Amino acid sequence: MSRIIVVSNRTPGKGPAAGGLAVALRKTLAEREGFWFGWSGKLVDTPATDVRFEDIDGLSVAQIDLTRDDHHAYYAGFSNSILWPSFHLRLDLATIEAHWYEGYRRVNQQFAHALLPLLKADDIIWVHDYHLIPLASELRNLGARNRIGFYLHIPFPTSDALYAIPHHQELMRDLSRYDLVGMQALRDVAAFTEFAEHQAPATLSGSPLQAIDFGRTEVDAFPIGSDPDAFARLATSPAANKMVKRMELALHGQQLILGVDRLDYSKGLPQRVEAYEKLLANDPRFRRQVHMLQVAPPSRDTIKEYQATSDALDAICGRVMGRFAEPDWQPLTYVKRAYGQPSLAGLYRLARVGLVTPLRDGMNLVAHEYVGAQDPEDPGVLVLSRFAGAAEIFEDAILVNPFDTDETAEALRMALDMPRDERIARWQGLMAAARNHNVEDWSKSFLERLAPASARGTATR
Ligand code: G6P
Repeated sequence: MSRIIVVSNRTPGKGPAAGGLAVALRKTLAEREGFWFGWSGKLVDTPATDVRFEDIDGLSVAQIDLTRDDHHAYYAGFSNSILWPSFHLRLDLATIEAHWYEGYRRVNQQFAHALLPLLKADDIIWVHDYHLIPLASELRNLGARNRIGFYLHIPFPTSDALYAIPHHQELMRDLSRYDLVGMQALRDVAAFTEFAEHQAPATLSGSPLQAIDFGRTEVDAFPIGSDPDAFARLATSPAANKMVKRMELALHGQQLILGVDRLDYSKGLPQRVEAYEKLLANDPRFRRQVHMLQVAPPSRDTIKEYQATSDALDAICGRVMGRFAEPDWQPLTYVKRAYGQPSLAGLYRLARVGLVTPLRDGMNLVAHEYVGAQDPEDPGVLVLSRFAGAAEIFEDAILVNPFDTDETAEALRMALDMPRDERIARWQGLMAAARNHNVEDWSKSFLERLAPASARGTATR
């Protein structure tokens, strides 16, 4: 059987990329004798070419170092100041510096040069996320003929947003050199098809039109999931219970509204707090009866737009506190820190409302994990943004437009007032959907499509 090689910017055990994805792929990689390839997390002054293999909890991980300058241009620059905001339709938050693209390409070339000597002819390569769009091109330029798949964890942009990205035509041509491109949601496939079918006139794309041939690239939606049953077990583990006890003491019987997100402008955090403010303003009976906890670990905090989001959140949380807090009651708690999965699972289980309201999101696994963690006898309610990929599968959530804070406030009221029978019925639907879209089946179905059992071992390009 062919080996599977997974490639991503971060490797498991080195930060937020670990988690459900790592657990699901660890099993596959162990069975298929593959390895995970990515950046070591280490920054050096001069370009390094050596690859270091490490065993991380039974997973074989190969890593390379990057130079400080290349990493800055590739990660904070092109990936997170251009691609991330544009793909999330926040062109107003994009910063364009022309030289970042060169750094982005250089890092992709460095990945390709380091990876190529490690490859066997029939290895199947699975590349993850927007940091590495050019990797198949770079590998193929060096002669690789392997099956190569790409999975985009974030939303695919509308054509207009795409045209605003420098070198977007090259990037789309890079996508056409994959055998399979997987996206989170039907919405993303539709946006891609729109681009592929109409391809921009030169006036919009900024360069003479040379139609890109996507004829050899299959593009489809493969909505990622979690392992909801594992989350259910975690939510009642001793470590989770410890957090639940602490929190119950602090809550004094108040109902908990919980948000857990990286501190990112795509997550709609200020809008969410504003919706909560409206709930307290419109419906005074909830004062002293509910408490909002927002967990928001800092992310990409060298980028000024992230600092501004953090400041905006500080300001609005302060406003809500000043407006509604009393000497013996606080309407909300806001923690800029990361917690381990067991503590989070405990908090999810305790929360009457899981408030997941990104302005735009690839999938959003917090929604999946919240569902997994609920007590089947007395579950909470998921209030979910229509603009998260998760909305395509979680029909039993209360779906909201996160830009409309009145609508979100009303959804909060409904969730808090919802009778137990309805909560149970909705949760059963949500849990069935979460189980149907679990992360193990996700990786199996992507890999089966990338390299069908019947064709395994056949190099195609
Ligand atoms: C999103 C991206 C991932 C990324 C994660 C954390 O989920 O799709 O590729 O790893 O955010 O962001 P960071 O920049 O810290 O890796």
